[in-house]
Amino acid sequence: MLLPSGWYVIAASSELKPNKPLGIERFQKNLVLWRDNNDKAVAMLDQCPHRSAKLSIGQIKQGCIECPFHGFSYDHEGRCTLVPEIKKAAANLTVQTFELVEKHGFIWLWYGGEPKTTDLPWFEALDQGKWSFSQQATNWKTHVTRCIENQLDYAHLPFVHRNTIGGNSDVTKPVKFELEDDSIRFYPGSEKNGSGFIEFRFPNIWMLTIVPGKFAQMMAFVPVNENMTRLYLRGYQSFVTIFGISTIFDTIGAWQSKYILNQDKRVVLSQIPNVSVDAAHEILYPSDQGIRHFRRRWLETSQ
Ligand code: FES
Ligand SMILES: [Fe+2]
Repeated sequence: MLLPSGWYVIAASSELKPNKPLGIERFQKNLVLWRDNNDKAVAMLDQCPHRSAKLSIGQIKQGCIECPFHGFSYDHEGRCTLVPEIKKAAANLTVQTFELVEKHGFIWLWYGGEPKTTDLPWFEALDQGKWSFSQQATNWKTHVTRCIENQLDYAHLPFVHRNTIGGNSDVTKPVKFELEDDSIRFYPGSEKNGSGFIEFRFPNIWMLTIVPGKFAQMMAFVPVNENMTRLYLRGYQSFVTIFGISTIFDTIGAWQSKYILNQDKRVVLSQIPNVSVDAAHEILYPSDQGIRHFRRRWLETSQ
């Protein structure tokens, strides 16, 4: 896939259990995620170099992943540590592995050829204070660019979300944008106190500050293939801290967010072409300035 280089959220940490390989598609490749003996997450191509069976339906043994077909084993660097019929390792058998970092409850993969930076994109506000969050994930049948652009678009609020969050929005009111090389920020709410503040960080995370320090939403848009994106949505809150009550509170919040997101989904899935940066014929308006900047930076940094 043609995508910017960078650290991408590719999965939630909670999805990857010890001793259970997880087969996923990301960046149009079949990958297997698993945890080694130190609980460290590993990502490799989900294809055994012997005769191409999927490693994700194999098992974890002694810190290695064992192919379900003939029992060949591979370590966290993709080296074959055992071929059962010769009772030896095989130096000529390797599986391609990918660089991972696990942080903030997500698994991040470096995609692209440029030199890696060790800094992950993240939102500092979520590291401050006592947040709790609920998390959900869903797949949308479209390209990642359309999903991201939907979250950079405020002019759809009174139409798509007429009966929920958009009822009172006034699209004629000017909105301040801050467009940077690696981020897009804008203030469709109150610029003064920072409520309704939105920030996107390339390549795939987004945050809405509803009430600073108290209420926020965070999303990650994960490229599965050209026609599929996995969305992770977190609702953060910091003022109900009693365990049990906060869980109920978070659950209700998650249900509401899902309802609102489904309002978006209906329209976003109707957009053709589904790769937005191919849509040169589209006529953009001032409210689309975040989207214009997004497309320009996406293309400049893609490889
Ligand atoms: S295909 Fe994996 S061990 Fe043979
Ligand atoms: Fe929306």
